[in-house]
Amino acid sequence: MAEAKDLGEIIEASYTFIDHNRSHIPYGKGITDQLAYDYSNRYKLPLRIAVSAFKYLEGLNMTKADYQDKYILDAGSGLGDFKRALKGMGVKAEVVNLDDAKTWGIYNTDVVGKVEALPFADNSFDVAVLNYVFPFVIDETIDPSYAANQLRELIRVTKKGGIIRYRPLRMFDPQVREGSQRVMIEVTKRALEALAEIYQQNPDMKVQITRAIGDDNTYDEILEIVK
Ligand SMILES: C[S@@+](CC[C@H](N)C(=O)[O-])C[C@H]1O[C@@H](n2cnc3c(N)ncnc32)[C@H](O)[C@@H]1O
Repeated sequence: MAEAKDLGEIIEASYTFIDHNRSHIPYGKGITDQLAYDYSNRYKLPLRIAVSAFKYLEGLNMTKADYQDKYILDAGSGLGDFKRALKGMGVKAEVVNLDDAKTWGIYNTDVVGKVEALPFADNSFDVAVLNYVFPFVIDETIDPSYAANQLRELIRVTKKGGIIRYRPLRMFDPQVREGSQRVMIEVTKRALEALAEIYQQNPDMKVQITRAIGDDNTYDEILEIVK
């Protein structure tokens, strides 16, 4: 119980957000475009792939070295641009694109499945990333345990010491939750309870909520875990 309480304290404290010295990134309208152009020029990437490069690097507080030589799960991979971005930047890694294929169909999808029930063995991946994967309609019809189940699964399939990045779109931002629907508060509560429960079994696990640039010219929060 003590460990679970400690985790709660870590998460409470991190509600103030850790900025990771990201002041070198100017904030404001057009910054997404500017960063995408920077990546595009530096790595000679098509613009759409460059957008993905910065989203999964700057946007998830990751570096190329964090991905290099790793076995990576991109949970909710969409069009699979992240996998192409890594290749385009010369990062050697094996990426598994998992998507439920409901939005864009099976397009560069390696495995069709739900993040809430991942078809992978325990301790499979070095890195598991989830970027902007959320129900399009947040209302009383969604399962309020969806985020808890996604986190349980991402942690389960990641090796001990491996990295998890979960970008749930402002779910952990208390200001947004205050004004949001009852269901979102319940989603967050269940996710934090799931984390606390997992933390009790993995006391070495590191959890923090940080702030990073989003793909809509704003900052929002990401959950960073080292299992
Ligand atoms: C907004 S897109 C983001 C795509 C990509 N992660 C990116 O950042 O460019 C969301 C994707 O998540 C997928 N998705 C949504 N909920 C999912 C779930 N529960 N399990 C698997 N895929 C899901 C959708 O099909 C869609 O391709």
